Amino acid sequence: MAEHVYIRDVAKHEGQEVTLKGWLYNKRDKGRLQFLLVRDGTGIMQTVAFQKTISPEAFAAAQEVTQESSVVATGVVRSDERAPGGYELSLTDFQIVQLAQDYPITPKEHGIDFLMDRRHLWLRSQQQWAIMRVRATVIRAIRDWLDNHGFLLVDAPILTPAACEGTTTLFETQYFGEKAYLTQSGQLYNEATIMAFGRTYCFGPTFRAEKSKTRRHLIEFWMVEPEMAYADLDECMRVEEEFVSYIVQRALEERAEELKILERDTSKLVGIQPPFPRLSYTDALEMLKAAGEALPWGEDFGAPHETIIASQYDKPVFVHRYPAQCKAFYMEPDPEDPQLSLSVDLLAPEGYGEIIGGGQRIASLELLERRLAEHKLPREAFEWYLDLRRYGSVPHAGFGLGVERTVTWICGLSHIRQTIPFPRTLGRIYP
Ligand code: 4AD
Ligand code: MG
Repeated sequence: MAEHVYIRDVAKHEGQEVTLKGWLYNKRDKGRLQFLLVRDGTGIMQTVAFQKTISPEAFAAAQEVTQESSVVATGVVRSDERAPGGYELSLTDFQIVQLAQDYPITPKEHGIDFLMDRRHLWLRSQQQWAIMRVRATVIRAIRDWLDNHGFLLVDAPILTPAACEGTTTLFETQYFGEKAYLTQSGQLYNEATIMAFGRTYCFGPTFRAEKSKTRRHLIEFWMVEPEMAYADLDECMRVEEEFVSYIVQRALEERAEELKILERDTSKLVGIQPPFPRLSYTDALEMLKAAGEALPWGEDFGAPHETIIASQYDKPVFVHRYPAQCKAFYMEPDPEDPQLSLSVDLLAPEGYGEIIGGGQRIASLELLERRLAEHKLPREAFEWYLDLRRYGSVPHAGFGLGVERTVTWICGLSHIRQTIPFPRTLGRIYP
């Protein structure tokens, strides 16, 4: 048998006989010519079986093969402008490994529930393939940027004794007779690790029992959370804009083909470079009022408000200094107006809305104790966190970027559920 090559490498083998190992994506029957689209995970390639130049057994297999059957195809690589990818394989042999019967996802349109029930198969489709590859690049860009900018990866636990982001979205479980919760955010642990390592990040799955069914909420999602000792709100925003711009530019460089499959208008992403505009919560309220969507002071923005604000800009926009009352317990108050917090959200353009939440953390022990009490959080579970203010407390700041929201925006998708391999949404834990 000829050398096994991956479709992404066929250009290096022009004129040579090679073997592809993959699955049948689609076929066209032209009688003595069988056009078989083969995919192997790295790409899709057109292969052609011509009755005259292939054995009768191989031609029979080419006629019989069905969508998503596993196949081994041997042939000569020829450059052909008309073929997808610019190369075609003239088959010299073709074998079926397993004949798939009635693959349920056909080239016709299917409803979203039908596809979600078959997510394990749907991942083979070209658009899903493209999204997962963008996701992998986004994750690699995240790690590369942080690793190259002085952040140490120090992961946070998934089973935790307490809430980070409010008690209403906690997943409760049992821990040898004690109550435990799936983590909503690794932030509190990051605040411990920066006091040991300076700048750190954690990166992993986080869980929120969100009762709302929206196009931007998952129950299980991945979040990267950088945290910095001796940093303030301004430093936080400077890091965020560099970080997000790098991620977008890496995706544009490395995933042009995938973004084309997704029909993404990439001209909207080219200009994502620092600096990003900065808007205070108070000014954002004025903007909403002018747009006919007045909101009482102190209320958090919903998706429609974020859309109005973000659509005024062609870059992501920072909204900073939200009222303390609509943010988490750990936010440092603004020294110029203690009703405000030194918090910041980053809203992506084109209606995508919040992709990052973060800000400066409370440094004072007394204030933190008071906030825990005001938020009715169980103090025992937070003693260790209070220690961080007892032993060398410093001004510090950090943020969390949602991987799936970022991928939704970069890919230009209308719903978050396709950006994670096996989505957990309200009411769905299968497959
Ligand atoms: O704004 P959030 O809740 O902030 C935190 O958890 C902070 N403790 C992070 C930190 O400062 N270290 O969540 C951060 C980001 C959001 O901006 C959003 O991108 C994403 O996490 N996110 C979700 N993504 C998908 N589904 C959900 N249910 C999400 N909830 C938050
Ligand atoms: Mg938030």
